[in-house]
Amino acid sequence: MKNFITIEGCEGVGKTYHTKRLKEFCEQNKINALFTREPGGSRIAEKIRNIILDPTNTDITNMCEAFLYASCRVQHLEEIIIPALKIGKIVFCDRFVDSSFAYQGVARGIGMQKIRALNDIAVGEYMPQFTLFLDLSAKNAFMRKGGAQNDRLENLDISFHDKVYAAYKELAAAEPNRYIVIDASGKKDETFKLIIDSLKERGVF
Ligand SMILES: Nc1ncnc2c1ncn2[C@@H]1O[C@H](COP(=O)(O)OP(=O)(O)OP(=O)(O)O)[C@@H](O)[C@H]1O
Ligand SMILES: [Mg+2]
Repeated sequence: MKNFITIEGCEGVGKTYHTKRLKEFCEQNKINALFTREPGGSRIAEKIRNIILDPTNTDITNMCEAFLYASCRVQHLEEIIIPALKIGKIVFCDRFVDSSFAYQGVARGIGMQKIRALNDIAVGEYMPQFTLFLDLSAKNAFMRKGGAQNDRLENLDISFHDKVYAAYKELAAAEPNRYIVIDASGKKDETFKLIIDSLKERGVF
């Protein structure tokens, strides 16, 4: 969908950081945009998310979790995203359907086919026009944040996050027109410039 842009990538690569920078950029340049993330201030979506995140819900199955994410997504989409697009705003969303492809579809092992089918129903024609993929592995993002200085690295399930990263790379290769691959290994300002330039090149700004 035109003017719907999502920001994706592994944990800690700077999605939230760069979404904030984009918000500042839009404010400074008087660009009419909405910035959101799931559950995005939707009361019902928030309630659904609380079920997913409730640490006592250890018996939740992978498939049930996938359906709940899709439910949360559709509520946020219909209540927040679609109305903003309809009044001509550019909508930036920090994580969206590709997170389900990478996490539920691949890393949790449900399979891309099922996750695609489920999310096709939830998202319909509202697939993002562009997806900014901040290309950096979770491990490298963790090291950058100073993770190497403590031993929390052991707590990070590297193989799980490697699967997520590999899944994103495959998605990007399969959809080169939608995916904008941004080298996120550089300094913050360098990465942000790559993002702005790529959006200008594609006529978003
Ligand atoms: N070059 C860089 N680009 C982006 N962030 C950087 C960079 N170098 C260091 N950082 C720091 O890394 C952190 C990135 O965290 P951020 O919360 O934006 O990641 P995220 O991708 O949203 O993670 P999560 O998946 O957990 O939501 C920030 O604290 C930021 O200041
Ligand atoms: Mg974040």
